[in-house]
Amino acid sequence: MLVDTYGRTATDLRVSLTDRCNLRCSYCMPAEGLAWLAKPELLTDDEIVRLVRIAVTDLGVTDVRFTGGEPLLRPGLPSIVERCAALAPRPRLSLTTNGIGLARTAQALADAGLDRVNVSLDTLRPEVFRTLTRRKRHQDVLDGLAAARAAGLTPVKVNSVLMPGHNADEAPELLAWALAEGYELRFIEQMPLDAQHGWQRSGMITAEEILASLRTRFTLTPEQADARGSAPAERWLVDGGPARVGVIASVTRPFCAACDRTRLTADGQIRNCLFAREETDLRGALRSGARDADLAELWRKAMWGKKAGSGLDDPAFLQPQRPMSAIGG
Ligand code: GTP
Ligand code: 5AD
Ligand code: SF4
Repeated sequence: MLVDTYGRTATDLRVSLTDRCNLRCSYCMPAEGLAWLAKPELLTDDEIVRLVRIAVTDLGVTDVRFTGGEPLLRPGLPSIVERCAALAPRPRLSLTTNGIGLARTAQALADAGLDRVNVSLDTLRPEVFRTLTRRKRHQDVLDGLAAARAAGLTPVKVNSVLMPGHNADEAPELLAWALAEGYELRFIEQMPLDAQHGWQRSGMITAEEILASLRTRFTLTPEQADARGSAPAERWLVDGGPARVGVIASVTRPFCAACDRTRLTADGQIRNCLFAREETDLRGALRSGARDADLAELWRKAMWGKKAGSGLDDPAFLQPQRPMSAIGG
């Protein structure tokens, strides 16, 4: 088991498959992109499957989510999914993607054993999408979402970050659309994880503001308290339910006390927190011949050292060295 000194157990593994991305969301990275990891630094497909196997069979992980950068850019994704689905006990498998290319791959991923997807989409307006992501790919994302739904990768969740000057007023419109399409919408407070280090608390749209905006058009009632578990999203029933809307308020309503996550970066480092400033190098150990039991022990040690919280409210808070796109969200 992956336990820490605060009594939490990590059962949810997030695996970043690449730090690269085909969008340039302004809250994530600069227009010119970043200095990407070189191919030899990335874990190979075999290395990833081996580490997921250790997590599932020796360390009690029950849920595995593939992230990026943009995980659909990794050619081996369907085969990684298939091999992870063949593990015993079989983990639940999910994917967080920007949706580009999903229209082509959703069915193959479902056939390989993927259970569900979360897709990032911040706006319904093509021109706002273009300024926010600096790419003209809005329709690709909408097509990807529809393909995921058709392939049964459900519940399909949509993640939206609201940004002043772009889509700040779009919350009710996004919710009306998600309800009509049958997607579960979650709004995410912008976090200080951008490569440019441009985040400012004063420039962030808070959960409270998002809820106030939604309430101009919908009646929201909090979901039963025990329904949340360790999910980052707090949820509300919309107009009496059964449809729901979520808010992931990492900044104003942190949920660190219930955190059940462990993270593996594309270059084989364990992170015990999204905001951790230290990592544990599994790749080095793996490539110098470590046995499964040694790798499991390194992983346990890495999680044991997990801090109580993100440190966001600490005046001395420092952003992690890695940006969001290289951590995997
Ligand atoms: P499910 O609830 O299982 O569908 O997934 P999820 O919401 O955890 O995953 P997703 O990849 O869609 O992440 C949505 C947002 O939650 C992203 O902005 C993540 O960075 C954020 N998030 C995920 N895990 C954590 C965490 O441990 N701490 C914080 N603060 N945010 C997280
Ligand atoms: N703050 C909050 N959410 C972010 N995401 C990317 N960068 C940030 C940030 N700085 C979101 C993406 C995606 C999810 C994995 O994280 O939009 O939906
Ligand atoms: Fe790419 Fe996701 Fe970053 Fe947007 S937020 S640039 S989709 S990694």
